[in-house]
Amino acid sequence: MYEVGLRDGLQNEAAFVPTQDKIDFAEALGDAGLRHIELTSFVSPRWIPQLADHSQVAKDAKRRDGVTYSALVPNLRGLEGALAAGLEEVAVFMSASESHSKKNINKPIRDALAVLREVTTAALSEGLRVRGYLSVVFGCPYEGEVGIAQVRDLVHALVDMGVYEVSLGDTIGVGHPGQVETISNELYRSGIKAEALALHMHDTRGTALANVLTGLRAGIRTFDSAFGGLGGCPYAPGAAGNLATEDLVFMLEAMGHTTGVDLARLVSVSARMQDLIGRSLPSKVLQAELAQRAKAEQTQTPSRTG
Ligand code: HMG
Ligand code: MG
Repeated sequence: MYEVGLRDGLQNEAAFVPTQDKIDFAEALGDAGLRHIELTSFVSPRWIPQLADHSQVAKDAKRRDGVTYSALVPNLRGLEGALAAGLEEVAVFMSASESHSKKNINKPIRDALAVLREVTTAALSEGLRVRGYLSVVFGCPYEGEVGIAQVRDLVHALVDMGVYEVSLGDTIGVGHPGQVETISNELYRSGIKAEALALHMHDTRGTALANVLTGLRAGIRTFDSAFGGLGGCPYAPGAAGNLATEDLVFMLEAMGHTTGVDLARLVSVSARMQDLIGRSLPSKVLQAELAQRAKAEQTQTPSRTG
């Protein structure tokens, strides 16, 4: 499980979550058992003001054994920031459609590939692990359908650069299980291993868990999610929250998989985030668990008349 709430979630929140709270949330997510936590993005604060405090968050988040912190880096300058903050892993990102690429990073795909190659090579030579994101794999908000050959070629380009894993992004939450099956089959057929893939689902249309289940059956074992279901993409209109970590943990554990995540603790973390940003988060499991807690509290509290 790859927790992206502090990055993909907060980049899309109207409210700026104070720096110390972000650091506290990172620690609390680790306490809840998450082992891969994306902290922030070393991108332009003019593009993503919510994460303008990237250096402070990445520097001050308390390190712990077994937990890997990562951050998005769009260029060498971002990589320098991540290195200065002492991160051991970074993620490079690009789009599978030209229009989303230009909106998201102000570059056509060909230029993006050159930058990602440069950043990945430099990061690897510094001993960092590099993850790759490919966005709008399942559909683009500007162009609609994205060709499977384009997706396949870009996944290969990322793997050839040296990323250890490519996270296939359903940026606007239009993906369906049939696509997960077709795309994973095409990638396997072309020589990509299941271990090199992750699924990054947004739950805009309610298909995220069905897509994960299909990915699971196709051999994929890494899934991105955001606590509470925070999230979206500011340059993809209509992108709603990421698949909620609570919903993913509930389903996987119920199926007999071990996630290592303590659901009760995670629910408390997301409840705190709801209070901070002043709105209910979309995770169904979170809301069900909170409703149960409220009910249990009610039955425990003696009435005034005794
Ligand atoms: P640009 O305007 O083409 O490039 O932006 P630039 O080099 O001319 O720089 C513009 C400004 O950014 C300058 O500042 C630079 O100094 C500054 P100004 O002179 O305007 O004040 N700058 C930086 N500042 C801080 N850190 C840096 C950095 N680099 C330049 N590393 C750039 C190009 C890539 C920087 C810009 O387009 C950008 O920051 N984009 C951010 C896009 C983004 O973060 N999108 C969301 C993440 S992707 C996502 O959510 C999808 C994902 O979740 C998967 C999925 O769902 O599919 C991963
Ligand atoms: Mg995303």
